[in-house]
Amino acid sequence: MKIALTYNLKKKDTTKPADYFSECDSEETINAITGAIRRKGHNVEAIDVEYPKLFSYFRKNSVDMVFNIAEGKSGKFRESEVPAILDYLKIPYTGSDTFSLALALNKALTKKILKAENIPTPNFQVFIKGTEELNPDLRFPLIVKPNCEGSAKGISKLNVVNNTEDLFKRVKDILSVYKQEALVEEFIEGKELTVGILENGKTRVLPILEIDFSDCKNSGEYFYSWKMKEYQGNKELGLVPTFHCPARLDSETEKAVKDVALRTHRAVGCLDISRTDIRLDKFNVPYVLEINPLPGLDPKESNFPIMAYAAGMKYEDLIEAIILSASERKGLN
Ligand SMILES: Nc1ncnc2c1ncn2[C@@H]1O[C@H](COP(=O)(O)OP(=O)(O)OP(=O)(O)O)[C@@H](O)[C@H]1O
Ligand SMILES: [Mg+2]
Repeated sequence: MKIALTYNLKKKDTTKPADYFSECDSEETINAITGAIRRKGHNVEAIDVEYPKLFSYFRKNSVDMVFNIAEGKSGKFRESEVPAILDYLKIPYTGSDTFSLALALNKALTKKILKAENIPTPNFQVFIKGTEELNPDLRFPLIVKPNCEGSAKGISKLNVVNNTEDLFKRVKDILSVYKQEALVEEFIEGKELTVGILENGKTRVLPILEIDFSDCKNSGEYFYSWKMKEYQGNKELGLVPTFHCPARLDSETEKAVKDVALRTHRAVGCLDISRTDIRLDKFNVPYVLEINPLPGLDPKESNFPIMAYAAGMKYEDLIEAIILSASERKGLN
């Protein structure tokens, strides 16, 4: 097959905010994916997404499949930009479609669908102006997040609040810095889990990954904040969480966690691959925080490959599974 890898490169640019490129991919990830695709016997060319260039590339070059990991340029629909262009040009691509990518990027809308499907997700409220009254049913501690970001952008330990004054301060910060609505939800205190789903012939739920932050206590960070994600593995900062894959769960909880992840994947209409972030409450009830249809694929650092390795796959098997799953849809949509 002739494959084009579409991506947005993580750049070093000190004129931009520190988290500006957090969602983008590193050269190591791009090289790992192209290497894996080649090892599986395909031709591949990697294309950093710049829009007029993207059109002219596909006008000049015909490809059998696009391996899409592009996070897009800006705005609430950015992850759908490349798929929308590919839909228009009728070029098949891996992963979720234009619609599901836009939906999953909108956490509040996704949560409304989860609630309708009886999938537990933390109780929440959306703040558009910052002057709304807080729903008295919400129980502190609450966490404030930008509604449409990934890579924990805009999420620090200060965003976990215990009173209304702090809550409104953080809401206003999110509104002004991220220029989008703020999502406020109940903070679920238990284990942090993430679940990978891979569709290669049959839908496969990978071994659950538990991320344990107890060794990070001295850093002051205690959950998957932006700082934790950005500096993960940095010993000097004390940001070395412990990964347990499979997670340390009793069989009943494991089953419940896998079940909600699969139902979330289906409810959002994800294709080929997704990663659902979950927290357990004190009764071991799994609460879905969000679903990521474009999970990070850094072979060393990202959560998804860790789960694939635990399932006995090599990195190139993971990449090939995504391509094969997408190939099965060819000509169907
Ligand atoms: N309601 C919550 N209760 C407890 N912890 C939460 C909650 N919401 C978010 N968190 C913590 O913040 C982290 C980031 O939140 P979330 O997954 O919603 O953001 P994101 O930016 O979409 O993340 P990703 O990097 O996976 O794209 C979670 O992994 C978790 O550690
Ligand atoms: Mg997340």
